[in-house]
Amino acid sequence: MARRNIENAPSGQTVSLLGATGSIGASTVDLLRRDPIRYRIEAVSAHRNAGALAKLARDLNARFAAIADPAHYQDLKQALSGTGIEAGAGESALVEAAQRPADWVMAAITGASGLRPTMAAVERGATVALANKECLVCAGALFMQRAAATGATILPVDSEHNAVFQALKAGRRDDVRRVILTASGGPFRTWSAERIAAATPEQALRHPNWSMGAKVTVDSATLMNKGLELIEAHHLFQLAADELDVLVHPQSVVHAMVEFRDGSVIAQLGAPDMRIPISYCLAWPERIERPAGRLDFAQIASLTFEAPDLDRFPALVLARRALETGGGGATVLNAANEVAVAEFLAGRLGFAGIAMLVEATLLAAERRQISAAPASVEDALTIDHMARNLAAALLPEIAARAS
Ligand SMILES: NC(=O)c1ccc[n+]([C@@H]2O[C@H](COP(=O)([O-])OP(=O)(O)OC[C@H]3O[C@@H](n4cnc5c(N)ncnc54)[C@H](OP(=O)(O)O)[C@@H]3O)[C@@H](O)[C@H]2O)c1
Repeated sequence: MARRNIENAPSGQTVSLLGATGSIGASTVDLLRRDPIRYRIEAVSAHRNAGALAKLARDLNARFAAIADPAHYQDLKQALSGTGIEAGAGESALVEAAQRPADWVMAAITGASGLRPTMAAVERGATVALANKECLVCAGALFMQRAAATGATILPVDSEHNAVFQALKAGRRDDVRRVILTASGGPFRTWSAERIAAATPEQALRHPNWSMGAKVTVDSATLMNKGLELIEAHHLFQLAADELDVLVHPQSVVHAMVEFRDGSVIAQLGAPDMRIPISYCLAWPERIERPAGRLDFAQIASLTFEAPDLDRFPALVLARRALETGGGGATVLNAANEVAVAEFLAGRLGFAGIAMLVEATLLAAERRQISAAPASVEDALTIDHMARNLAAALLPEIAARAS
């Protein structure tokens, strides 16, 4: 991507990508590459993948590349030598990547590690395309308050929330009766509870419709992803728990629906391709021509919906409970789930153990009265840390029960 092009461009936009080497990062890069005149890349970041990060930084002619794990800094520096691209390592470098002057920041780091860098972008009043739902799950009230105070614009990347964002434009906020988020149901939608309990990481990673990073794919298999999304929607759109519903929709064509008080329901539809919501965020408030597949309704023929089975997918119940309880429960839920998913992917915890570990951690946190809503990112990360310790302590017993 040639920098001189953007400097001559009448409507240039400066962009930074946090989590540039991931699935959302790749979809975003694909879109940016199609319009090199329009975008200049300020900063890119990754966790450990120094080779891919350096390649991206060079290809995109970025000014700064940040690697979270300092052990990979030398590799990054070496790969960038002679390019003039600056390199940094550690959390401070991620925060610097977010603080550098980009108009638009894609927040696509996985998990609670995204909190500090994303908040740094919010604090300087940037437009933040928010893929990292964990920011809103762990500290949603805080993020929304800070965005309001700094003038930052938060644009939802999650396809469901992007759909709600679009559908809400059809009426007045006061006239909204209910918002329905759809869920594909994941790879185990039709499986028995016994079969689900014995599911392997390989089976959980085979999502029927979406191609995503490992963590969010496992969350889609447990339906925890939809639970996290309920909490995300609550904060983004100021919706009460009883104004939020989930429907399983295996085709993943309708991403969300907004029901207004006169009975009208406005849905947003689109192919299951993250480049659609990302394009929307990139061009907002305009729309741009992009390459995502168009829907062929005659070929799709039927769209089906069913209520989620809360017995086979208890993670959704836990997330809804955390939403209803409020306070720091959602932060605990998220931390315990991150631990559980990592243990499942490492083969040390059975699939059914994911929800069991989250539930046990929530109960243990309640007993220790870890209940206040975080008032700062530091608070959220303290709760996150305590919850991870609780989950680690409970793990052996739960792993034995879920094996
Ligand atoms: N993929 C989707 O379709 C989708 C849809 C909606 C929402 N989301 C949300 O978007 C976020 C990213 O998802 P993804 O599917 O793109 O994940 P992914 O493919 O696993 O990519 C994650 C990105 O974050 C970096 N990263 C991971 N851990 C990090 C850490 N501790 N510190 C700093 N950077 C770290 C990774 O770097 P390395 O490459 O070096 O590991 C990578 O660049 C998640 O919050 C997810 O829930 C994703």
